[in-house]
Parts: sequence; C-alpha cells; structure tokens
Amino acid sequence: MSEPLVLGIETSCDETAVGIVKGRRLLANVIASSVDEHARFGGVVPEVASRAHLEAMQPSIERALNESGVKLEDLDGISVTAGPGLVGALLVGVSAANALALALDKPLYGVNHLASHVAVDLLTHDKKFRPSIALLVSGGHSSILKVTDLTSDIQSLGQTVDDAAGEAFDKIARLMKLGFPGGPIIDREAREGDREAIKFPRGLSQPKDMLEQPFDFSFSGLKTAVSRYLVATPDYKRADVAASFQEAVVDVLLMKSIKACVDTGIDSLIVAGGVAANSRLRELAAERCASAGIEVRTPPPSLCTDNGAMVAALGSLAISSGRAPSALGIAATSDTPPTQPLWL
Ligand code: KG4
Ligand code: ZN
Repeated sequence: MSEPLVLGIETSCDETAVGIVKGRRLLANVIASSVDEHARFGGVVPEVASRAHLEAMQPSIERALNESGVKLEDLDGISVTAGPGLVGALLVGVSAANALALALDKPLYGVNHLASHVAVDLLTHDKKFRPSIALLVSGGHSSILKVTDLTSDIQSLGQTVDDAAGEAFDKIARLMKLGFPGGPIIDREAREGDREAIKFPRGLSQPKDMLEQPFDFSFSGLKTAVSRYLVATPDYKRADVAASFQEAVVDVLLMKSIKACVDTGIDSLIVAGGVAANSRLRELAAERCASAGIEVRTPPPSLCTDNGAMVAALGSLAISSGRAPSALGIAATSDTPPTQPLWL
C-alpha cells in the first residue's frame, strides 16, 4: 500500500492527541492538553492525566475525523503510543486503539513514542528518508540515536545519565518560580537576556568525557550551578539566567549531536521532541550544521511537542513498509527503549 490512511492516538503524558495522516500528508492534528490542571502541582500528576485522557479521548477522535473528512471505515490502520510514558495514561490510548481496531477489523500498530517523535520528520518534506542522527530531547528523554530505518533499525549512541533536557528546563523554571512547563517560558525570557552573562557548566563535555561518554548528557551539575547562583545573587536578572542556562543546554546538545554525525559519517541530523521547539536550539542547530556541512531538519514547533500526527506517521510508514501489525490486546509499557520502534 503506497499511502496508508492511519489514525494515530497519543496519551503518554498530559496531551490527549489524535492525528490522521495519509502516507506523508497530515490531514488532522487534534490536541487536548490537561497541562493547566497540572500547573499548580509544578509537574504532571499521573492520576489527573489519566482521568483527563478518559474525558478527552472520544471527542478528540471525533474532531480529528470531522476536520479531515475521513470516515472510520476508510482507515487502513490504527496506531497508538504503547510506551514509554505514564502507564495509566498510556492505557487509555491503548484501550481506545484496541477497541477501534477490533470493532473496525483494522490492523493495530503499537508504536514507540520516541521513535514517533523522530518519524514526524516524514510529514514535513517529501524526500526519501535517509540514515540520520536524531537528537531526541523531550521532558522524559534525551538521546542521540542513529536511525537507519524508522520502523526497524534505531540504535542508541548515548543518553542522559540524570535529568532529561526538558526536565532541566522545567526544574530551573520552578526554581525561578516562572511556571510549568518551563521550556517555553525560559525560551521567551531568554530572548531579552544575555547568553554570555553567566558561564554555566556544560555537563560531560570535558576532553576526558568526550572520549569516554561522547554522546551521553548530564544536566544535574548545571541545575546545581543555577540553583547556587540564584541563592548567591538575590537581585539576579531573570532574562540573563534564562539565556545563560538555555545556552549551556543547547551548546552541549549540539556539540554532541554534530560529533555523532562526524564520527558516523552521517550528514543528516533530525532534532525532535518537545525541546526541539526551543528557538535558540533551532537557531544554533541551523548555524552549526551549516558550517559542518550537515543537513538539519527540525519539525515545526507544533509537531515537536507531543501530538497524534507523529504516531499516525510512524503507523503509516509501518504499513507501507510491510511491517506486521501488533497483536490485539497489546499492553502499554512505561520504559520502552527508543530502539524498539514497533510492538509485535
Ligand atoms: O515531547 P514532549 O511534548 O513530551 C515528552 O515526551 O516529554 O516534551 C515536553 C518537554 C517539556 O519539558 C517542556 O518544558 C519542553 O518539552 N519544551 C521546551 C520548549 N517547548 C517545550 N523546552 C525548551 N524550549 C521550548 N520552547
Ligand atoms: Zn514526547
């Protein structure tokens, strides 16, 4: 099948998201977020997320069908995020997808949330996918992946040894009492700030680290340094702290991603996941990749944070690549590695 029509469901965290794609064309992308319900707790509360998914699931499916003009019976398959994520939240999406696949007698594809963050790249251009390095940076994960085939061959070159990049943004925003989620707020604050104002540490980037753990990240030292700075400097400039912190994160993310491209001889970099919406990361990625002769692709910000389109895109690719569907009744798993793109 050349352009499979797929409905994708995403409920791994606080977004109830439903996307519909036909091959590499995006037809609908509906997102209902429960983020406001979590904001006063300073982070996502799993039980609150699960209940919100239950309420939003059916209306979101209906809206996606209405927006795209697609009828359920026309679908070639259903795909769903089966992990990693919050198990209670994942279960709502997986149950809905299982029920749809069973009732409609359509194939079901359980897909990996991390692989689908990268697969959303397919929706933004029409060139044939070629082996790429992916910098995957979200609220729960930070990895450098070697992606040879999005449905069957993803290798992990390195990952964070402590916090995820998005988690670091969220924690620093909390320390500065800026709100949740912190990434977009710090991004905005940083625009008015001086990124050279404070020299914050770049984790695991010393010559010895670049030899022993060239593709691993660590953000805990940076978090401690920012926290100490805030205590020692009561009249700190918010924008300068935001800009200098953001620069420390973005600098090390790109230093390691470009090294991965150079070391593997792959001249294509995909920057994906919620943190890929960061304006400075996008700007510096374009600059540094241009000077290194690497083609860089960053999905539009609305497709970087969690969405159903990315899930549908990976499901559609699985069908057109002739991959076997998942068994009905697949379970959700909380800590699936990015190297397992599809469920059997
Ligand atoms: O991929 P995502 O939507 O959910 C997970 O799979 O975790 O990523 C959410 C993360 C949050 O930590 C949020 O603060 C971060 O992405 N984020 C950003 C920006 N927009 C979202 N981080 C930095 N700059 C942004 N503009
Ligand atoms: Zn995500």
